[in-house]
Amino acid sequence: MKKVLVTGGLGFIGSHTVVELQNEGFEVLIIDNLSNSSIEVLKRITSITGTKPAYFNIDLKDKVAVQQFFATNKVDGIIHFAASKAVGESVQKPLEYYENNIGSLVYILQEMKANNLNNFIFSSSCTVYGQADELPITENAPIKPAESPYGNTKQIGEEIIKDASKISDLKAIALRYFNPIGAHESAKIGELPIGVPQNLIPYVVQTAAGIRKELAVFGSDYNTPDGTAVRDYIHVVDLAKAHIVALKRLIENKNKSQYEVFNLGTGKGNSVLEVIKSFEKVTGKKVNYKLVDRREGDITAAYADTKYANEELGWKSELSLDDALLSAWKWQQTL
Ligand code: WQD
Repeated sequence: MKKVLVTGGLGFIGSHTVVELQNEGFEVLIIDNLSNSSIEVLKRITSITGTKPAYFNIDLKDKVAVQQFFATNKVDGIIHFAASKAVGESVQKPLEYYENNIGSLVYILQEMKANNLNNFIFSSSCTVYGQADELPITENAPIKPAESPYGNTKQIGEEIIKDASKISDLKAIALRYFNPIGAHESAKIGELPIGVPQNLIPYVVQTAAGIRKELAVFGSDYNTPDGTAVRDYIHVVDLAKAHIVALKRLIENKNKSQYEVFNLGTGKGNSVLEVIKSFEKVTGKKVNYKLVDRREGDITAAYADTKYANEELGWKSELSLDDALLSAWKWQQTL
């Protein structure tokens, strides 16, 4: 049975990926310092799949702890989710973001090289494109100067991995996510926002649940059909499945180069107002909202060109926006 380390495996995308890995017969080891998750998620994963992943409460900023882990655990692949990910917070705390997101990545790559571990999947983001000049966005779209330290850590992370692959046998795939949303069909795992949600869908479901008074729609004067900003919302389970495909590609040596990049989206863009309408349709719940000014740093529109991921990676998203929004609502009702 192939063994895979999932860092950040108790997080939103990480936990959904652990479930799909176990479904595919992988033995999963999780490293998570619970800074943005809860140990309860480990129980939920176990109750979904019937198999408890091995769990290590390690802070990846602790170089010695990372060395000790790799000295005693041999794995066939690593999927690296663990990182701080709040765009706004990164502007307030840039040094913490660089220390956590870059420091941890370097320590893992150092131990991979020292232990001759070569299969690495990196959690990246479409944020590296900024506002792309052309839509849909392909993997060759130019990388724009980052709008936030968070986005910068993704750009720098990709560069570090590229450089590491030139001085070792490292085989790496960076997956650039568009907007991950939704929850597992069991409603046992989902997005656990801590505090006031920064992202759209958690705020929508909390407004529908009466936890938030009303949703502020950031900007209604964008150059889009209805004036509100457009994003490519992808179901987190489809996103999780893409990680299995990418990991198998590396383990089976099907990769075409030592560093590959794939955009993971649905290829479809939806505006904020379209999301609200879709949510109200599938849940029958009303979402109170008001149109307010744009949010600093937001782009007008982004959605993926999925051709390369479909043809080269052999993956495409299967679930719809409606499926994702309904699953997010069912998850919210369990909280
Ligand atoms: C989506 C749309 C907002 C909240 C960021 C990162 C990306 C990833 C996902 C980490 C935008 C609008 C939102 C609200 C609103 N991050 N909105 N009212 O900014 O596209 O992407 O989060 O993994 O890397 O860049 O996602 O969900 O914050 O916003 O109107 O209360 O919803 O303006 O148009 P975003 P988001």
